[in-house]
Amino acid sequence: MSPEPAPVQRPPLDDSRVREVMKGLGMGELWVSQATGSTNDDLVARAKAGQLAHLSVETTEHQEAGHGRLGRGWETPDRSSLAISIYFRPDAGFDPAGLPWLSMLCGTAMVQALNEQAGLAAGLKWPNDVVAGGHKLCGVLAQLVLTADGPAVVVGTGLNVSQERAELPVPTAGSVALLGGRTTDRTDLMAGYLDRVAELYRGFAAVHGNAGEAGPGDRVSLRRTIARHMVSIGHEVDAHLPDGTVLRGTAEDLGSEGALVLRDAAGKLHHVLAADVFHLRRSDGSYA
Ligand code: BTN
Repeated sequence: MSPEPAPVQRPPLDDSRVREVMKGLGMGELWVSQATGSTNDDLVARAKAGQLAHLSVETTEHQEAGHGRLGRGWETPDRSSLAISIYFRPDAGFDPAGLPWLSMLCGTAMVQALNEQAGLAAGLKWPNDVVAGGHKLCGVLAQLVLTADGPAVVVGTGLNVSQERAELPVPTAGSVALLGGRTTDRTDLMAGYLDRVAELYRGFAAVHGNAGEAGPGDRVSLRRTIARHMVSIGHEVDAHLPDGTVLRGTAEDLGSEGALVLRDAAGKLHHVLAADVFHLRRSDGSYA
């Protein structure tokens, strides 16, 4: 008889360490719940209830009724993953046209954190799915909040950390553990992610939310930083548009408004702003 597989270890998040990291990064408050419906809903409710410090964070050990893109759900087993929502309340000089870029900023921060903390060669599938080895392991969902002080954004990120295959909703989903990440320590992964978010946001705020402008020091523009991590670029893709049509083409670039720039078979360029994008298989059999 084969031995029983070792049970998956799912220790609690070390919230005092996360608090310390956030303090060092000049971030706002942290709320950690044992279980909740959706961290995005919780943070939006806090924002509407009163003044909330910029870069405050809501997380939970067990998200039971989370929201995904396109009206889908996002629920995960207790302590198996990270559900992190961040409140962005840019100051008055920030161009509101920069707000839609915050979800891609967070996706890029997660790609960088997975690379640095877990040694995973992750990338962004347009617009902001985090993928590695052809599997999606993280999704991002942003919500605009109109506060008395002006527009703000809650960006929620869900990272699959220790889920086993049977705990994932679809075969194309993955987790840090299944993809061979060198750590499944959620505190390290969260700290690494918050560090990257704070750094990318600093550069973006310094150019007042202009994604096309190079930041201070040797920073390239946010658009270029995101494009460098976008595995969709160079790929042949099917873009399923909201009106039901499918546009097939080669993804060439990330456009000035965050659009995926596609060239179709006739050579015509299309700027896609909303779509579900599917990478077509390369001739060597890989997706990304
Ligand atoms: C997607 O469908 O790809 C987006 C998934 C976003 C899930 C995260 S988990 C934290 C935050 N709270 C939510 O209810 N959703 C987001």
